Amino acid sequence: MKNRLAQLIQKDGKALFLPIDHGYFQGPTHKLEKPGETIKPLLPYADAIMLTRGVLRNCVDPANTKPVILRVSGGTSVVGEDLANEGLTTSITEIVRLNASAVSMSVFVGSKYEHQSLINLTKLVDECEDYGVPVMAVTAVGKELEKREARYLALCCRIAAELGARVVKTYYCPEKFHKVVEGCPVPVVIAGGPKVDSELEVFEFVYDGMQKGAIGVNLGRNVWQSEYPVAMIRAIRAIIHENYAPKEAQDLFEQVKAGKA
Ligand code: 5RP
Repeated sequence: MKNRLAQLIQKDGKALFLPIDHGYFQGPTHKLEKPGETIKPLLPYADAIMLTRGVLRNCVDPANTKPVILRVSGGTSVVGEDLANEGLTTSITEIVRLNASAVSMSVFVGSKYEHQSLINLTKLVDECEDYGVPVMAVTAVGKELEKREARYLALCCRIAAELGARVVKTYYCPEKFHKVVEGCPVPVVIAGGPKVDSELEVFEFVYDGMQKGAIGVNLGRNVWQSEYPVAMIRAIRAIIHENYAPKEAQDLFEQVKAGKA
């Protein structure tokens, strides 16, 4: 367990995870139509990638040594009835066979399927703890993006940690984000959500989230849907591992974009 966690969370205690699992309910997401191509230039700057077994098998070179966080919940789609109605999609044998450094699954607190997703989390934790595989819980909101506020997120993160998650991924919120992190006894990483309007906006929320106690990010669309994904990931990496302020990150972004760094 400690060894796997050390593969994900770096010696400075920080982490940059790159998720490309969106297809498991969204299908061929914009700029992720060919996930293997999307991640190629980004891999050197990520501490781990998060993806499903299907994309791992079919789109990632088996010689890849970047740690893998395997998405093991699903069974719903954007055109289906309710995104919260997820089940576990991957057995522990497969998780171990694919040499995952961790697994991730969504919990839908407050939804019609709250109980089901939380019990799924406990079952996954029970199996994964036997094999020393950390579980990262994703506090999902489905299509209800307005749920992303501190009291709700704090509730979700705490419950996920209490049920055995080793890491929790949640959304950043501008108000009282420190309360979300302080109420959670395991490390918290920030998810990005839909692409926002400017790069600086991303740098600002990542920086603020880190100042308030997050250990890093699990950021997808705001990286690979950017016109300059490598510049984006390098700037975000500098905030996480080199404590760059948002404006410094913006400068680095501009330099990389111009081919000067
Ligand atoms: C999808 C996920 C994604 O990995 C997560 O939302 C992070 O990606 P993005 O920054 O694009 O939101 O768990 O359910």
